[in-house]
Formats: sequence, structure tokens, C-alpha cells
Amino acid sequence: MFKVNDNYLKLPGSYLFSTIGKKVSAYSAAHPEAKIIRLGIGDVTQPLAPAIIEALHSAVDEMGKAETFHGYAPDLGYEFLRNAIAEQDYKARGCEISADEIFVSDGAKCDCGNIQEIFSLDNRIAVCDPVYPVYVDSNVMAGRTGTYDSGTETWSDVIYMPCTADNGFAPELPSKTPDLIYLCFPNNPTGAAIGKAQLQEWVDYANKVGAVILYDAAYEAYISEPDVPHSIYECEGARTCAIEFRSFSKNAGFTGVRLGFTVIPKELKAGDVSLHALWARRHGTKYNGAPYIVQKAGAAVYTEAGREQLKKQVAYYMNNARYIYEGLKEAGYTVSGGVNAPYIWLKAPNGMTSWEFFDYLLEKVNVVGTPGSGFGPSGETYFRLTAFGTYENTVEAVDRIKNMKL
Ligand SMILES: Cc1ncc(COP(=O)(O)O)c(C=O)c1O
Repeated sequence: MFKVNDNYLKLPGSYLFSTIGKKVSAYSAAHPEAKIIRLGIGDVTQPLAPAIIEALHSAVDEMGKAETFHGYAPDLGYEFLRNAIAEQDYKARGCEISADEIFVSDGAKCDCGNIQEIFSLDNRIAVCDPVYPVYVDSNVMAGRTGTYDSGTETWSDVIYMPCTADNGFAPELPSKTPDLIYLCFPNNPTGAAIGKAQLQEWVDYANKVGAVILYDAAYEAYISEPDVPHSIYECEGARTCAIEFRSFSKNAGFTGVRLGFTVIPKELKAGDVSLHALWARRHGTKYNGAPYIVQKAGAAVYTEAGREQLKKQVAYYMNNARYIYEGLKEAGYTVSGGVNAPYIWLKAPNGMTSWEFFDYLLEKVNVVGTPGSGFGPSGETYFRLTAFGTYENTVEAVDRIKNMKL
């Protein structure tokens, strides 16, 4: 008789966004006239930029002719894309990353969920609390997290690094020593960012204790302050302790197109074993490459026209972020984020829990956000709103919240 991977059975509850989806569907069915505004899930709403559409069309045409048809892509991704990434995302920022240290993939979620496979099950992970759930759940599935305590909503073998108002939503160095440290800046869900000196402390710490930092920079394009690093490789010594994940979802609207990449410097080693070689082996065995058409569209992100158009798209969402931040502040809410990230993190009013405030907003003003407690125990009593809606919906949602009786 077959057996299942019973680590999956340890996963608590249903996935955050499916619970939200069910609640919203139930409300919608009971109130078909309600105009619900969704500022919950971090999906974009603006169409793909013209430079990207043009690249997609032209790549599709190439696929229709024998002379320009492309089959399987090279394991690491096409050179035209990896060269553009190395040049513009790294070299231009003074980071020493070469094209053959970049692995193109279909997005950051898969990569940051899969990366744990190349590490021993004995490794202890450290995560921020609240946290993007993929880092923890993928380690639960692998059997690396110990037992779950439903009272504290924590795993026995995970080191939690609380990110609260007291520390400006930036984690402090943990008292127990981790082997793998997941960091995400600018942060989902809190919208917080850290300066270069703060990130350098993490790099120094990881090199000192022999840990690897798994650095998720999916929101890099939203950085507006000069002191906030765009890549962990801006820090000295990061080549021997850090892996970086990037996505085309938020900077270029590829959530439905799918493209991302992971950077593993060749110096990153456990003894003699190169993590670059292990990930190359894993990538080559379990992944057959992002489509040529999509990689061509990705390269358009780095053209002059693409850069110009996407700067405007990011500014559009950040204008929403400003509207939410200022509107809620004016209404008396305690808010943070929204400056270097498209997320606004607010404290639920009147001592409400995160889910109580979720229900209250849905019922009173038909606005959907994300309960902070869904991202970890330190997210309790907080709430996340995203700037990825249309401007019109954002304005209406904020105005409804401002006029809502508490
Ligand atoms: C922190 C973080 N990393 C990764 C992702 C996923 O990115 P992708 O669409 O490239 O899989 C998200 C998506 O919301 C995210 O918030």
C-alpha cells in the first residue's frame, strides 16, 4: 500500500488566500449588489507595457518559422537575457555577478520554495515573523520544521525573528544560530525596507556563523530611498553567503506570464561543494526552462523603451501606495510601509484581531485586504493592503474606509 508524504498532513489550515477567497465568495453570494474592491492578494492590475507586448508578438512570429524556431531553452536560460540581467541589475549597481551565476526560471515562488532541496534536512531555518508563507511551508513539506504548536502557531524547529513596530519591522540577529536565513526586502507583508548598513550586518553575521542567506528581492523595483540596497550583493562578502531571488512579476507585471531568476555566486560553498553546482544539477534535472517567448519578453524589460514604460508602471502603483498611506494616516490609523514597497501595513483599530478587522471591512465597506495574522503570530492585529489595484478602486476603497464608522 502506498504512503503519502505525511509532512503535508502537518500543514495547518488552508492556504491564507483560499480562506480569504471563500469568505469573499460567501459574502458576494449573499450580497450580489455589493461592489467589492479587492486590495488583498498581491496581484498586479495594469496591462503589460507596449515594449513587452511587441517583444512577445515578435517572438511568437519567430516560433512560426523553421529558421527562427526555438525548442528547449538552455539550462540556465538564454544568454541574451542573462547578459542583460548581469549588466543592468548587477554590474550597473557595482555588484560583481556574472551571467553564468544567474539561473532563469518561471518565477520567484518556485525558486524560493525549491531552494531548500539542496540543503540537508538537519539545517535549521530562521524566518521573519510575519513572513511570506512559502519559506516556512516548503520546509514543512520537506520535514525540516519539527512539530506544530497550534496555540502559538509556531514550529518547534524554526527560529522566528519577530518584526514588530518596536524594531521598525526589521529582524534582529537571532539568539539561536540558524543555518539558513530567509530575508525578504523590501518586505512582503510589512512593506518595510532595511538600509545597506543593516543588511551588511546580516551578511557579516552569516559569514561568521556559516549560514546562507536566502534573499528574496522580488520587490526591488519599488525602492525609492537611496540608502536601501537593491541587491544583497551590494554588501561586501555576500558572494560567500547569499543566494538572491528575483521576479518579473511586480516590476513588469509578469504574474500571468511567469519569469524570474535566482543568483548563486560560484564562491558560495559548503566545504568543497559548490551550491551553484548543486542548483545547476537540480535545475537541469527537474526544470526545462522558461519559454523562449517569455525570455524574449523579459529581455524587453531591459531595453530603453521597456525601462521607461515600467518606471511609469511602478510609479502608478506607488502613487496608489501614497494615497492609501496618507488617507489612512489622516483617518487616524497607525500605518507603515508604502515607501519602498507596494504594501501598506496597518494596525487594526479598536483592539480588533486581524480577522475581525477583515470581516468588518468586508461587511461595512466591501473592501478586501489580508489579515496580518495569516503571515505569522507577530502579524496578529495587523492588516495588509496592496497598492496593486487600479487608481480608481484604490481611491474609492480608501475613501470608504475613511468614512467608515468604527
Ligand atoms: C516575497 C515574494 N516572493 C516571491 C513572490 C512570487 O513571485 P513570482 O510571481 O515571481 O513567483 C511573491 C509574490 O507575491 C512575493 O511576495
